[in-house]
Amino acid sequence: MNDVIVSMKEICKAFPGVKALDHVSFELRSGEVMALLGENGAGKSTLMKVLSGVYQRDEGELEIFGKQYGDLTPKLAQEVGVAIIHQELNMCRHLSVAENIFLGREKRHGIALANSEMEAEARRILDELKIDLDPRQVVGELPVSKQQMVEIAKALSTNARVLIMDEPTSALTAREIDDLFRIIRELKEKGCGIVYISHRLEELQHIVDRVTIMRDGQYITRMDFQDTSLDEIIAYMVGREIKEKFPRVSCEKGKKIFEVKDLNAGRMVRDVSFSLYEGEIVGFAGLMGAGRTETTRAIFGVDAKDSGQIFLDGAEVAIRRPLDAIQAGIVLAPEDRKKDGLCTKLSIRQNIALPNLDFLCNRFGVVRRDKEDEVCARAVEDLKIKTPNVETDAANLSGGNQQKVVVGKWLARNSRVVIFDEPTRGIDVAAKVEIYHLMNRLKQQGIAVMFVSSEMPEVMGIADRIVVMCDGRVTGELSAQEATQEKILSLATQFEKKIAI
Ligand SMILES: Nc1ncnc2c1ncn2[C@@H]1O[C@H](COP(=O)(O)OP(=O)(O)OP(=O)(O)O)[C@@H](O)[C@H]1O
Ligand SMILES: [Mg+2]
Repeated sequence: MNDVIVSMKEICKAFPGVKALDHVSFELRSGEVMALLGENGAGKSTLMKVLSGVYQRDEGELEIFGKQYGDLTPKLAQEVGVAIIHQELNMCRHLSVAENIFLGREKRHGIALANSEMEAEARRILDELKIDLDPRQVVGELPVSKQQMVEIAKALSTNARVLIMDEPTSALTAREIDDLFRIIRELKEKGCGIVYISHRLEELQHIVDRVTIMRDGQYITRMDFQDTSLDEIIAYMVGREIKEKFPRVSCEKGKKIFEVKDLNAGRMVRDVSFSLYEGEIVGFAGLMGAGRTETTRAIFGVDAKDSGQIFLDGAEVAIRRPLDAIQAGIVLAPEDRKKDGLCTKLSIRQNIALPNLDFLCNRFGVVRRDKEDEVCARAVEDLKIKTPNVETDAANLSGGNQQKVVVGKWLARNSRVVIFDEPTRGIDVAAKVEIYHLMNRLKQQGIAVMFVSSEMPEVMGIADRIVVMCDGRVTGELSAQEATQEKILSLATQFEKKIAI
């Protein structure tokens, strides 16, 4: 136990215009959970891709289980016992759970696939992990959280002894996170070494033994978790102290800007009514699956409404598709950036310009480059998007910086209502504060801000008023002064409790 199983020394890796890793060292012992921490774009995912053979390093030494490796391929890494669960899920959506687990190393009888054997084996792995899933189910039909579980099962089915988890909890519910932590503890006991990347610093205390901190592609420090504090970790990550994690500005509450009345859409939006006023940020709290994302989608015209009315500045607006909403001055930064928020094949410039072409074009329909430059430069600067320039493909940005582009494209517009759905997911501490500042600025400008978030501390820290949802309905409303975690949770689980009784 506790011998060094991975040792990386002086690792360098450059991409065009970016030095992603600059002489980074890293080590992992058996039976430990090592947190790998740093701001968005610090190089965490890149370092772990080098360790798992996805990227070839430019320089440096890599030793796994005491053996030096020159060129490491993903296949070789897997044979050696390294498995990685990527930050962005990489499932084949049309294949079944079992097929995904055995992808690339299918069991065969002669030339025929041994489907039933693979299903049985997948079931055994899922049972062992106590994951409630049918191996025959098609992955694309599963919620993101369950897909995440399939990724984990897949990684473990290779008998990994070095397991890398890149932001595994960003899409999991509280119960699933508990399950994941249980699995992690069991693996530790078996002598597995685990690298754990997360921006949810408060969860580290439950599982982490040591931390490695990176900043701007460089190794900063490594320490025992119990010898440090979160404030110290944050200071190392950011390179300075963050004084106010939840900056709050007070504004005079003005007139009603936006109202939703008796909105119904599908099963997850039932009789939802609320109003947004000038000078306030309204938080939407609830457990995952409470219907908050569905509510934002119905308002924005992505999903059809069954009934209900929407009023903007006192007048009813008909929103049948997103364009109606955008033209009325209502915009949405969606939760699932990869699917709905971003075209990863386009550049940052194109992503920001696309929804704003109406005012970026001159009267002949030609994009005005100067205006476009101005809008893009402002988004990059305001949100501190880490990129060599705005021509970079969105796909090549780190996860958190992609999220900033999703938010950034709406900054350019003079909107009346801005809806943020989980805007800080996967975003580092310093960038979170940037997003809060941004919401505060919108609020000061008299724009109505709807802020959906599953992280209770940030809802309580930033919102002036909190609407709580459960099972597709609004179950209560609390002012920032009266809100406590207990009160929010009690409203967020109202129907569950009723069913339990
Ligand atoms: N394939 C690529 N091509 C070009 N640049 C890349 C590529 N992959 C990563 N980068 C750049 O390398 C740097 C480090 O990125 P990386 O994804 O490792 O950051 P990270 O620490 O994982 O951040 P996050 O917390 O946001 O996930 C970033 O500036 C990123 O834009
Ligand atoms: Mg990353």
